[in-house]
Amino acid sequence: MDDLGHALASGGPDLKMLGGGQPARIPEMNAVWRRRIEELIDETGGIDRALTSYDPPCGNPRFLEAVAGLFRRTFGWELSPENIAVTAGGQTAFFFLLNLLAGQMPDGRRKKILLPLVPEYIGYSDQGIDGGLFHAIPPVIEKTGPHEFKYRVDFDRLAITPEIAAICASRPTNPTGNVLTDEEIARLAALAKSHGIPLILDNAYGAPFPGIIFSEAEPFWEPHVILTYSLSKIGLPGARTGIVIGPPEIIRALGSMNAIVGLSNPNIGQQIVLPLVESGEILRLSREVVRPFYQEKCRLARAAASEAFGDGFEWFMHRSEGAIFLWFWFPGLSITSHELYERLKQRGVLVIPGHYFFFGHDQPAWAHRDECIRVSYAMDEAVVRAGLRIIAEEVRRCAPPSLHPAD
Ligand SMILES: Cc1ncc(COP(=O)(O)O)c(C=O)c1O
Repeated sequence: MDDLGHALASGGPDLKMLGGGQPARIPEMNAVWRRRIEELIDETGGIDRALTSYDPPCGNPRFLEAVAGLFRRTFGWELSPENIAVTAGGQTAFFFLLNLLAGQMPDGRRKKILLPLVPEYIGYSDQGIDGGLFHAIPPVIEKTGPHEFKYRVDFDRLAITPEIAAICASRPTNPTGNVLTDEEIARLAALAKSHGIPLILDNAYGAPFPGIIFSEAEPFWEPHVILTYSLSKIGLPGARTGIVIGPPEIIRALGSMNAIVGLSNPNIGQQIVLPLVESGEILRLSREVVRPFYQEKCRLARAAASEAFGDGFEWFMHRSEGAIFLWFWFPGLSITSHELYERLKQRGVLVIPGHYFFFGHDQPAWAHRDECIRVSYAMDEAVVRAGLRIIAEEVRRCAPPSLHPAD
């Protein structure tokens, strides 16, 4: 992140920033936020609720009821405000949850979080207060098209040992755009339940909001499941609002952690979206504005990649089922993805080298970790297209020739 920040600061106007997780600025959504801020100013007490009070540690009571109501109505899940906590962004929710459940326990034992599939969200990797939080399982790689693959959970290698405190996955997954299938989720939930541990599902890009999900996956909840949501990818990253749905004892612990770390949460995001959550409008905006916006950007980026990469060398893209990234795999690359990152940086293109996303497992000899990069397609199409052309030029220099030139 530090390196990206320096490159950004010194990069000049031609820099192609395809590395970060910054969501796009969607004009229709920005108009909604502006309208809501005007309404808050005009409404009696509106702006005061948003700015001039400390809310209770779990969040604004009316907002908690609105969230519980939205999920009750939409999915029939039996939720009440006791199942909901707000945090200062999804990132903070994970810092709290991961350290609450795993790490050094009061009785001296160490507990771990099982990641059923890596690559997984880089933002979890350094969150353990005393390190070593994760036990991760490399995936099965399934080739799904001439230049396409999909990761699957390797259930044969998934063992819940006594040190495992919870299972955790992002759905859709950052960095790959993978969406764990309904069957994979049902198996993970059953496994967690049979061992009396929670399953944590990170819906930062997921359904029903922001809804950046292009496959037919069903949202899933049971009383032992912890779901996290965020207002960032629907367009309010600056409001720092995360939402956790979970068992009341976990929610109470999150409230205590909020109070200890920050007294209370930022109110503004909750107040901006409150009527949209109460009316269900947030679901319509996700379905009719946010999802089609990213789906089209994804289509254009994939087409640009196919055009730029062609057939001369070995390359694969993960199947795009959601989120805002393309995940490339260059089998047999003669340099590491980190060296590729450095070469691309010299040419003004910023990506994230893939090895950072493979944390929590000790299989360093697995070449695949060093053959992947993450590319964001949230930027302007012309920037993404130009960046992909440069990536293709650099990879062509160090990738083995295609075994199947006709593919
Ligand atoms: C998978 C995933 N989870 C959580 C987060 C945290 O987002 P925020 O703290 O902005 O809610 C991100 C941000 O990019 C993410 O990609």
